[in-house]
Amino acid sequence: MKEFMFICMLISISTTVSVASSTSSSLRKNLPVLSFDEGYNHLFGDSNLVTNSKDDGGKTVHLLLNKRTGSGFVSQDLYLHGFFSASIKLPADYTAGVVVAFYMSNGDIFERNHDELDFEFLGNIRGKDWKIQTNVYGNGSTNIGREERYGLWFDPSQDFHHYSILWTQSHIIFYVDDIAIREVKRSEGMVGDFPSKPMSLYATIWDGSTWATNGGKYKVNYRYAPYVAEFTHLVLHGCTVDPIELSSINCDGDATTNNLDILSSIKNTLSSDQRVEMMKFREKHMMYSYCYDHTRYLSPPEECVLDSLEAKRLQQFDPVTFGNGPIAPRHKGKGRHRLSRTGSMVNI
Ligand SMILES: *[C@@H]1O[C@H](CO)[C@@H](O)[C@H](O)[C@H]1NC(C)=O
Repeated sequence: MKEFMFICMLISISTTVSVASSTSSSLRKNLPVLSFDEGYNHLFGDSNLVTNSKDDGGKTVHLLLNKRTGSGFVSQDLYLHGFFSASIKLPADYTAGVVVAFYMSNGDIFERNHDELDFEFLGNIRGKDWKIQTNVYGNGSTNIGREERYGLWFDPSQDFHHYSILWTQSHIIFYVDDIAIREVKRSEGMVGDFPSKPMSLYATIWDGSTWATNGGKYKVNYRYAPYVAEFTHLVLHGCTVDPIELSSINCDGDATTNNLDILSSIKNTLSSDQRVEMMKFREKHMMYSYCYDHTRYLSPPEECVLDSLEAKRLQQFDPVTFGNGPIAPRHKGKGRHRLSRTGSMVNI
């Protein structure tokens, strides 16, 4: 009888998993969790980066920000495509101006045409109100910010939550707790702005007083320091690239676990259920999207697919940024309108 119940339990567990399972959750469960020493190097902030090898084999990292300095770490390897994940617990209480970032970049190798994929957590005057921002730069496209900002359905300072990035040749997906929150496709519209050169993974905490909270209105208050961001369940998986010979790519993966097969087996990055889930998240929690920002783009960047309901919803948050009245749909092939340096409209 006991055995029978056990088997039933197993069956019910495996069915739940297969129904709810996203690419992110199956990757997280199948890929190895690295200790800090196995996968990362100290980036800055000397003793403000703390690992505890006694308690958990160095699998948890604390990044501190105090008056003296912030802190950060970087992956030992450069990666071309892959799956990158961390479980993060953000500092609680008063966190205005504090920025925690979990991101990929190659800015130190390609100074003029770098690529970047960001998760940024922007502190707030009340602990609950952490906003999360994602952004994408490709090939030095820093003149086009592709930011999106969201609220969350939980308080990210109370517990650990998973934040993951899947980056393939054709797709970038940002996940929170295995729910896809944003998908960026390589498209004709994005051209070279889709990240396509090897990047390292970074995690940092720093003082963003000048801009992070309400555009810099609220500064970091060091009375509440140190601010501590905790990182664990660090997953790094992709093709590693030699930092000198950038063309030398190692996709052999880990022979014992067949890790690379796991990644290359991803055909459909999002099932239709997962896409519906993503839409629901965005309808409920997205508070800013560059595609609708009239103060920055007279006409949105080429890849934007506008939705009048979304436009209306964003206007409620910020009528100035997101303009008044319906947004005219973009017509393909009409050329891009941009503000020239003198502010007049140009056709390019
Ligand atoms: C990236 O930028 C470099 C230099 O600005 C340019 O030569 C190259 O064609 C760009 N690559 C793509 C894919 O657009």
